Amino acid sequence: MCGIVGYVGPRPVIDVLVPGLAHLEYRGYDSAGIALNHGNSLSVLKRAGRIADLRLLIDQESLDDAISGIGHTRWATHGAPNSGNAHPHVDCDRGVAVVHNGIIENWAVLKEKLIGAGHEFESDTDSEVVAHMIEDMGDVPLAEAVRRVMNQAEGALALAVMRRSEPDVLVGARRGSPLVVGRGDGENFLASDIPAFLEHTREMVVVDDDRVVELRADSVSLTDLEGNAIEPVQHKVDWNFEAAERDGYPTFMLKEIYEQPHAIADTLAGRVSPTGQVVLDELEIDGRMLRAIDKVFVVACGTSYHAAMMAKYAIERWARLPVEIDIASEFRYRDPVLDSRSLVIGISQSGETIDTLAAVRYARAQGSLVIGVSNVVESALAREADAVLYTRAGPEIGVAATKTFTTQLVAMQLLGLYLAQVRGAVDPGAVEVLVTEMLRLPDQVESVLSTSDAIEKLSRDWTDTRDYFFLGRSGDFPVAMEGALKLKEIAYVRAEGYAAGEMKHGPIALIEEGVVVVGVVTDSHVRTKTLSNMEEMKARGGTIVLVAEEGDDVGNVADHVIRVPAGPDLLCTVTAVVPLQLLAYHIATARGMDVDKPRNLAKTVTVE
Ligand code: AGP
Repeated sequence: MCGIVGYVGPRPVIDVLVPGLAHLEYRGYDSAGIALNHGNSLSVLKRAGRIADLRLLIDQESLDDAISGIGHTRWATHGAPNSGNAHPHVDCDRGVAVVHNGIIENWAVLKEKLIGAGHEFESDTDSEVVAHMIEDMGDVPLAEAVRRVMNQAEGALALAVMRRSEPDVLVGARRGSPLVVGRGDGENFLASDIPAFLEHTREMVVVDDDRVVELRADSVSLTDLEGNAIEPVQHKVDWNFEAAERDGYPTFMLKEIYEQPHAIADTLAGRVSPTGQVVLDELEIDGRMLRAIDKVFVVACGTSYHAAMMAKYAIERWARLPVEIDIASEFRYRDPVLDSRSLVIGISQSGETIDTLAAVRYARAQGSLVIGVSNVVESALAREADAVLYTRAGPEIGVAATKTFTTQLVAMQLLGLYLAQVRGAVDPGAVEVLVTEMLRLPDQVESVLSTSDAIEKLSRDWTDTRDYFFLGRSGDFPVAMEGALKLKEIAYVRAEGYAAGEMKHGPIALIEEGVVVVGVVTDSHVRTKTLSNMEEMKARGGTIVLVAEEGDDVGNVADHVIRVPAGPDLLCTVTAVVPLQLLAYHIATARGMDVDKPRNLAKTVTVE
């Protein structure tokens, strides 16, 4: 995933591009660059590193006369993350500049052809072919040239392109990777995501797949790949720019952890009737279709997969439907048995994860009903699914998912209860009891957040600890998996999430003094079993930390107990994961890590 920004208008162009890129840095940050169009020349500034490194290259004065410009922050896919491979890329004559997000799958064939025609390449990237393809077309208007590129290039891509000879024109194109236009007054913006231009305008146009957009300071024209005009549909962005800022917190991740009570309340809002039943009319799926379902598949990646794990328990327990869960990148390759009676649920906070998109596309091709669960309105997943259930966590900038995870848990609990209701698998009274408990979750999470200082104190002993296990059974298992993933990705320490009962079949050999073992024991029907498993870890020298419900007598197995409010099984996953997010956060910051931008990771993974 990479971030693209473009601008045409009267402001100093670098003053739009560079801050815009800084707002997109969460999309990739191994190199950055800008290209400015001065009419008689293009200047390109780019280097490995972050936007702050790029700023060092900028000599404002010599660049102030630019008419338009494009910028890019990169997460490497083809070619090492060095300055040469940083975007923008130019053609041989330095007349065309291109920034690209995604992968051009047939780049090697295209490149070979261009080299045969005499073009010389400077980088190892797939993206550079676009600049040379346009150069090769000669005197074709830029928008038409980009349409031709889109017709030849295979794969997922978003492009922003400009040409020296058309300084007042910026052209964008999209297939698979996100692209939005910000419409201003006498100026226009192009970006991978809204925060790039939100300080300038709230009016935006989503560029759909296989569309090319031509921006001038005073116009936005959209076409399909044949050049047929398409009326741009304008939306107003209704969230604040401040929502995408840190709001006084030292990091986005901490801010987002603290936003969870609000995010959960928003995700529940309007989805519970006065009689305590789940209302998901927004899905617009006929009840008969849902009653005809005989099997459910949930596909997702990373943290979203942990939400899928919880969903399996919830749907099987409440709706009495068999559920299979799959890591999305594995789904298609095992030949799953799907048909029109299968419901496939794709969970992806970004709605852009290519593995999850490919899995749901595969499911739709088999005639299955697809529900997407996404945090991003109008994301690719939202648009490709038959129905969509939005989590309402607001923008999440920190690479490590926090509020999008807890809201996914809540959304999947709502969906599980809704399926149970529609299929008559559960008594309305039982739904009411659970839903009433769900409405308490925001306050309960708030109370867990108040233990942050105690968790920070606890974590001080473990700044140099290198080995952790996170264990749980049943509903506590996905929580343990998520606790381990959080610690791995932001603190760079080995942390294994494991089913507590499975430890004795091998991994227990790794337990010795110095290993920290975190056990989650909030699921009432397995807590005694998990506690015995924790005794086994203690006997081998592990330091034992338990996440347990208030008032639960966990005996004396634990060296430390972190308390969370008591609640029904499965719903407790939402509160139980919060101390583990805080634990990972405090350990990582004590180790001096950049928790918002962990190494090697990107917020959205749009490559297979
Ligand atoms: C979570 O902290 C990770 N950044 C990662 O595992 C993420 O959950 C995964 O890449 C899936 O992303 P998605 O929800 O946007 O599809």
